[in-house]
Amino acid sequence: MRKIYCDNGATSYPKAPQVGESMINYINNIGCNVNRGAYSSSYEAENVIYETRELLCELFNFDKPENVIFTSNITTSLNIVLKGLLSEGDHVIVSSMEHNAVMRPLNSLSKKGITITKVPCNSLGEIDIKNIESSIKENTKAVIMTHGSNVCGTLLPINEIGQICKNNNIIFIVDSAQTAGVIDISMKKNNIDILCFTGHKGLLGPQGIGGFLIRDYIVPLVDPLIEGGTGSLSEQEVQPTYMPDKYESGTANLPAIYGLNSSLKYLIEVGIENIYSKEMELTKKFIDGILSIDESLLVGKKDVENRTGVVSLDFKNLDNGLVCHQLDKTYNIQTRSGLHCAPSAHKSLGTFPDGTVRFSFGHFNSEEDVDYVLNSLVDIISSKSSI
Ligand SMILES: Cc1ncc(COP(=O)(O)O)c(C=O)c1O
Repeated sequence: MRKIYCDNGATSYPKAPQVGESMINYINNIGCNVNRGAYSSSYEAENVIYETRELLCELFNFDKPENVIFTSNITTSLNIVLKGLLSEGDHVIVSSMEHNAVMRPLNSLSKKGITITKVPCNSLGEIDIKNIESSIKENTKAVIMTHGSNVCGTLLPINEIGQICKNNNIIFIVDSAQTAGVIDISMKKNNIDILCFTGHKGLLGPQGIGGFLIRDYIVPLVDPLIEGGTGSLSEQEVQPTYMPDKYESGTANLPAIYGLNSSLKYLIEVGIENIYSKEMELTKKFIDGILSIDESLLVGKKDVENRTGVVSLDFKNLDNGLVCHQLDKTYNIQTRSGLHCAPSAHKSLGTFPDGTVRFSFGHFNSEEDVDYVLNSLVDIISSKSSI
């Protein structure tokens, strides 16, 4: 039975063409470190890393490749940024749709005197930006917000929020885990100060690579979380302050950067608009199908305006975990059930503590996949296949 992968919100599968080949090429034919060897293959690898920073600048409309920092994933990026930026007395604003990659570091910082305002979203996952404005205090240092909910797919209006932050001299930090590579994001147009990304979801790259793009004026405000060897200024036993070395100590995940380099070239070649419109066609087909089966299954928005391909269903009379299991066992369809590391999002959506079954369609899904998933759900609901 063919595998129907509908868990692109967790990680994309398959990856962009050439990702595997590039990684194998690095492992088999290059293999050396960078900044630590004065020979041609090391310089070649350095060029690939720099080119990858440039590709990320192209994708996110930014013009400082040296301010593109590589980490192992967006969780690490958010930890570096939040823990390096915030100190006692600072106030931050978040939405109720945040992932634990934002909430857990913030809650641990709250023990050190950082205060948090969580602006509630409605049962469609939408935020009222007036509530962001009215939450601003004199000591508000940053707004940290996810661009797209990993539970229901609703997009938050980063353009408007970026403008509010700019008007009030507040640092705007965006968690692009669910949207990078799928929806156009512009550091400049959206007034983003720090854009955190992960390489293995919509960017169609491998696991183990992520990062952040940071504007120059904030660099002095964010202390590095990890310090150590950078291959530069080796005569000094203190961390360099220039970019990107300030935040990049230790050997980088070079095979993953090679893989990401290929996936970024693929995304730029296909075009983000084309990627998004294909995902929305599939999502519309799925949502329309669900509405015709049973409208009450659908959690959050019932249309394809301002959303991603993440769709949550709540089976109410059935156990969501068992539905997810049955989809895999009987139909070879991969989804994810539970709370998706975002408990407050489920509280807003009215699905806490039971959670939902999340279907997340990606670039390589097809209309046939959606038809097959819908037919399988009809089977399960009508108990043709026993849970
Ligand atoms: C909105 C959001 N933020 C952060 C993360 C964490 O991503 P990663 O595991 O790549 O660090 C995820 C992934 O599940 C997510 O959906």
